[in-house]
Amino acid sequence: MSDSAQLTSRPGVTDRVAAFTLEPAEHAVVTALMRHLAAEFPAAEGHEYLRAVALACHHLPDRLRSFLRDRRGLEDFAAFTLAGIEIDDSAIGPTPDGWGNQPDQSRTAAETTWLTLCGSVLGDLFGWATQQDGAIVHDIAPTPADEHSQVGSSSAELLWWHTEEAFHPLRCDYLGLLCLRNYDGVATTVSSLDGIELPADVRSVLFEPRFVIRPDDSHLPSRRCRPQVAAGKEADFMRAAERRIEQMNKRPQRVALLSGDFDSPYLAIDPFYMEVPADAVARAAFDAVCQALAGQLTEIVLRPGQILFVDNYRAVHGRKPFRAHYDGTDRWLKRINIARDLRKSRAFRLSSDSRIIY
Ligand SMILES: [Fe+2]
Repeated sequence: MSDSAQLTSRPGVTDRVAAFTLEPAEHAVVTALMRHLAAEFPAAEGHEYLRAVALACHHLPDRLRSFLRDRRGLEDFAAFTLAGIEIDDSAIGPTPDGWGNQPDQSRTAAETTWLTLCGSVLGDLFGWATQQDGAIVHDIAPTPADEHSQVGSSSAELLWWHTEEAFHPLRCDYLGLLCLRNYDGVATTVSSLDGIELPADVRSVLFEPRFVIRPDDSHLPSRRCRPQVAAGKEADFMRAAERRIEQMNKRPQRVALLSGDFDSPYLAIDPFYMEVPADAVARAAFDAVCQALAGQLTEIVLRPGQILFVDNYRAVHGRKPFRAHYDGTDRWLKRINIARDLRKSRAFRLSSDSRIIY
């Protein structure tokens, strides 16, 4: 079912990332779906678009849906890739200099739909009210002001490996990244605890709420572009969301880094936004898990048209540093968040069918 993954720059680690490539007949089915939806929804955003994508994903080829459902059900690979869709580099337009700056989203509507269709097989797509103005599909492209920061739009600095929204109990189950352009061969990094035997006493400590993870800077109110709604339920929700982020920054609750099954635990960790624990036992356990993850870090150079799904409960991800050109040729990804059970976040969404978490 899965092809061998020729993805990593280090030998011997390819077996940690499952890879799937469309066959010619499957390619025809997928591109027909992409084009049909892109024609109807040129912005590739909004409630009706997500509803249409969730319905249309049932028409994806059986082999592709099986591959995705097996990864979801078996939890056998912490990261997996899909390939087989080509990108017309001139048709998609230049790389924007940051999120929200793509002048014409219709130029990438079909490509975005390749990502959202596959993501919809894994679960429900959602966005954060406090990140990229509540967009469901994010742009990941370098921004001059963020060169040395620790957010997706950085470039010159190593983006430390992390769980996406590790600080938030409603973080995504899967993170989807579609590569539109990567001339410079910038490597995405992935690691997990697969195959690592952390000592039982270390795991026990990591299962205890002894650690502090603060919100990452992508959720800061200063990054908002859209003017805030002044009154009503939406405004109340937004104020409450910003208060929660502030609270998580100023008075964070201690959390466990591991959860679920003791022998095959889920993981939430973001060392850059964490405090080194003051007590020696917690600090030693923190160091041990960081060392284990760093030791298994795999580099994946995504090619245009390729999708990387990261199981956000089992894998961490990051990015190697690179020099941005800001001339429309820089690395450009589309990103989505996927929840397996949207009901868990109902108290933080305006309606049952809203996909925005406040
Ligand atoms: Fe991330």
